[in-house]
Amino acid sequence: MSAGFASRLDPVLPAVAEHFGTPFHIYDLQGLHETATAFQDAFRGLASREYFAVKGQPNPAMLRRLREYGFGFDCSSPAELAAATMAGATGEDICFTSNNTSLGELAEALELGAIITADDETVVDKLIAMGARPRSLALRVHPGTAGAVGESYLGDTESAKFGVRVDRLAAVAAKAATLRPHRFGLHMMLGSGILRPEPFLLTLDLLLEQVAALGLDVDFLNLGGGIGIPYRPQEQAFDLPAFARAVRERLDAAGVRPRILFECGRYILTPHGVLVTRVLNRMSKWREMVGVDSGMNALIRPGMYPHAYHHITVHEGQGRPLETVDVVGSLCENNDKFAIQRRLPRTAEGDLLLVHDTGAHALSMAFTYNGRLRPQELILHPDGTVERIRRAETIEDYFATLTCDADRLEVVRQ
Ligand SMILES: Cc1ncc(COP(=O)(O)O)c(C=O)c1O
Repeated sequence: MSAGFASRLDPVLPAVAEHFGTPFHIYDLQGLHETATAFQDAFRGLASREYFAVKGQPNPAMLRRLREYGFGFDCSSPAELAAATMAGATGEDICFTSNNTSLGELAEALELGAIITADDETVVDKLIAMGARPRSLALRVHPGTAGAVGESYLGDTESAKFGVRVDRLAAVAAKAATLRPHRFGLHMMLGSGILRPEPFLLTLDLLLEQVAALGLDVDFLNLGGGIGIPYRPQEQAFDLPAFARAVRERLDAAGVRPRILFECGRYILTPHGVLVTRVLNRMSKWREMVGVDSGMNALIRPGMYPHAYHHITVHEGQGRPLETVDVVGSLCENNDKFAIQRRLPRTAEGDLLLVHDTGAHALSMAFTYNGRLRPQELILHPDGTVERIRRAETIEDYFATLTCDADRLEVVRQ
C-alpha cells in the first residue's frame, strides 16, 4: 500500500466501514493509474503489450479500467475468457495461456480469436486434429535447468507441469508450422514474485537463443508475468525503467524486433488494494490473539505460502504502545492467520485493521470453507467517492447450486 493510497483512504475509512460494513477489499484507482501509466511509459517505443493476468483480479469493473490503458487480458479458463469479454476485449486482446486444457476450452478461445499459447505438444496435436487455424499461436517453453532462478515458480525441472520441454521445441514448432498461423511466438515464465530484472532478462535470452538455434521466425515473445511487489516495507521495488532499457539493449544486440508481450497481474494491481477488517475479539492464549471479522477465505496467501507476508496497519494506531500478536480469522484451521507474532499497535474490539496488498491474487483466490463467505469489493475513485463493484456473498449464494434441474439416472445392470 503506497503512502498516497493510505492518505486517500484514511480520512474516509470510518465512514466507508460504517456505510458498507466490514470486511471489504478496496481498490485505489489513482494508484492503478500511476502504475499503468508508468508501465506504458517504460516500454514506449518498443512494440509490446501487457496482457493483464485475469487470474489476479477477474472483476470486469476493474478489467474495464485496465483496458483504458491499452492492456489486453491473459486468460486460462472459460470463466476468465468471459470476464475479459465482459470488459470489452475481443480477438487478440485476449491471450489464452492455459494448461491441462480441454478441447471445449480450446474451441472457445479459438472462437473468440484469442492468441493461443500451447502449453504442451498435445495442444498442437489437438489443434491439428480439430482443423483449427489460430491467427496467433505461441508455444510455451520449459527451459529445463537453464531456467533455474532461485525464486522459481516452475518447480524443479523433473516435476515441471508447465510448458513444452526445450529439447522437443524443434519438433513441436515444426508441427505448429503446419497450422500456418498468421503470427507465431514463444512463451516462457520462470517465476513469480520476482523483484530483480535478471530472471526476466534470462527468460528473454533463453527465448532468443532458441529462436537463433532453431531458425524460428517469431513475431512475438511472451515473457509471462511474475514481476513482484515489495510486500515487506524494507523490500526494494522492481526497477521497471531499468528492465525496459535492458530489454531494448538485448533486442538491439540480437538484431531482432519481435513484439514483447507480458502477462503481469501482481505488479499492476496488488499494491492498490487492501482488505479492511474489524477486530472482533481479543484473546489471551499462549500468545495474544487478535480475532478479526475476515480470514484466509478472503485472502489465502499467508495461510497457503509459508513465507507470504502482508503488511498490516491499524487505523488510527499511531502513537499506541506496540504489542506482539497473531491476527486470526474464524476458520477451523490453525493456519488461518494474517500475521504471526507481528508487532502491531495495541488494538481493541471494533478497531479497523488494513491488510495491505490485496489488489490481485486475493479475492480471486477466495473460497467458502466453513461457510465463511467471500467479502465485497469497493473502489476508491480519485475524487474520494467509494463505489461497490461486487457485493458480499450471501447465504442464498452459498446454497444457490442446490437449486438444479431434477436429474436421476438409473443405470440398467446387464
Ligand atoms: C501463465 C501465467 N501468466 C501470468 C501469471 C501472472 O503472474 P503475476 O500475477 O505474478 O504477474 C501467472 C501466475 O500464476 C501465470 O501462471
